[in-house]
Amino acid sequence: MLLELENVKIAHGGVTAVWDVTLSVAPGDFVAIVGPNGAGKTSLMSAITGLVPIQSGKIRFDGNDVTILPAEQRAGLGIVLSPEGRRLFSDMSVEENLLAGAHLAPSRVETRRRLEKVHAVFPKLKERARQIAKTLSGGEQQMVASGRALMAQPRLLLLDEPSLGLAPIIVDELFRTLNEIHGDGLTIVLVEQNVLQSLELAESAHVLESGRLRLSGPAKDLLNDPYIKTAYMGY
Ligand SMILES: Nc1ncnc2c1ncn2[C@@H]1O[C@H](COP(=O)(O)OP(=O)(O)O)[C@@H](O)[C@H]1O
Ligand SMILES: [Mg+2]
Repeated sequence: MLLELENVKIAHGGVTAVWDVTLSVAPGDFVAIVGPNGAGKTSLMSAITGLVPIQSGKIRFDGNDVTILPAEQRAGLGIVLSPEGRRLFSDMSVEENLLAGAHLAPSRVETRRRLEKVHAVFPKLKERARQIAKTLSGGEQQMVASGRALMAQPRLLLLDEPSLGLAPIIVDELFRTLNEIHGDGLTIVLVEQNVLQSLELAESAHVLESGRLRLSGPAKDLLNDPYIKTAYMGY
């Protein structure tokens, strides 16, 4: 397994956000984690990247225990998060934002190579290289956020609600691109409230509710699950 969470519990202050989550992500997998606002999805992503410590449990990456490894070292191993709300450097250009994602790259040549790859995935980011991030549309900003994560050359790409606030047609385009990136072999964990489209895209999926996994399985099974249909798709 590329990523394994074992009985992970996460608290903010005295308040438990995630209770006892056990899940694993195989190399090359595309995993969706869906659930309502406040379910603990972002907490889980923060714990995987090392941005918040876990209360108990274990996190393994590529067979190695990374439970207490600092965030920067986990990033060095290839655990890369595109955070909720995009978190761009809003006064910097598209290219500067992308280059920031490659700050751990070993050389300038390698950084340029990654930039060319990201431009191939998101051609618009090449056209808009000099544009200041805050003047972009929401969809373009999400491309920058995803592109910046790719610049870190992830072995595991974590995407926290990339579709938030985007028009449906832009979401379609973004999800098509994620599908292509996955097709090239990248392992992806996608956190979303957009349940239908995430389950259509992912191979396996988990439903997180009130900090606990409610359902797990192949995404297409969850897509047909009666509980999912009533609770998340309104039929
Ligand atoms: N920094 C924080 N301090 C205190 N409580 C937090 C913090 N971050 C999240 N929480 C709480 O933890 C729970 C899970 O939040 P979060 O992980 O953001 O869920 P989701 O991403 O699924 O919306 C919520 O009850 C939220 O209020
Ligand atoms: Mg969240």
